[in-house]
Amino acid sequence: MRAKLKKRALVGSGVPQGFSLHRLATVGNEEIRDCYFKAFLDSRNRLFLSMKREQQGVTFSECFGRLDSVDQEHSYCIRKSGRVVAFVLLERQKDGYLVEHLGVHPKYRRRGLGGTILAQGLCDLLSIGARSADIETDVTNTPATRLYRRLGFSPVNRQAYYYWNV
Ligand SMILES: CC(C)(COP(=O)(O)OP(=O)(O)OC[C@H]1O[C@@H](n2cnc3c(N)ncnc32)[C@H](O)[C@@H]1OP(=O)(O)O)[C@@H](O)C(=O)NCCC(=O)NCCS
Repeated sequence: MRAKLKKRALVGSGVPQGFSLHRLATVGNEEIRDCYFKAFLDSRNRLFLSMKREQQGVTFSECFGRLDSVDQEHSYCIRKSGRVVAFVLLERQKDGYLVEHLGVHPKYRRRGLGGTILAQGLCDLLSIGARSADIETDVTNTPATRLYRRLGFSPVNRQAYYYWNV
């Protein structure tokens, strides 16, 4: 899915009381790991769910490997009582930005945290001159696709990739 970034589509209600927003650059991977696995093991991401545990671990390490392409200043985590409960990771690509990973701990879903953290990252991109962003999702992932549509994303193409048995 792709969005032309527009300020008005990204106006949200902000981080709810009791939660705090942090740049990825200031949060260690070990703090994120538990939330990452809780989020994706309780998801409609069939690709992740079809992987063996070891492959899931490699996926986490690769994505949070803090390569130069990861925009650590504009990627975020949300903490509640000192623990990471949500994360979004933005990656620079040749011709724009990709929302590489977005997750919210199952206990804290449907309170707008996913929308808030993604909108924050996308607002940052807008402020540094980005015009659009891409995101990939499983077509059956209704919570994710609803959220993305709300923030202005719409489908651009469909890959059979997600139907392979990894
Ligand atoms: C996708 C995800 C990040 C959303 O986080 P969240 O904090 O619940 O997000 P929000 O509360 O901002 O919005 C969720 C939207 O999904 C909707 N939703 C949530 N659960 C739903 C369900 N079971 N069926 C239908 N819609 C659902 C909410 O109503 C809301 O839609 P709305 O804005 O039209 O009201 C979270 O569900 C998650 O971490 N999922 C697992 C990881 C994942 O799939 N990540 C995306 C990979 S591409």
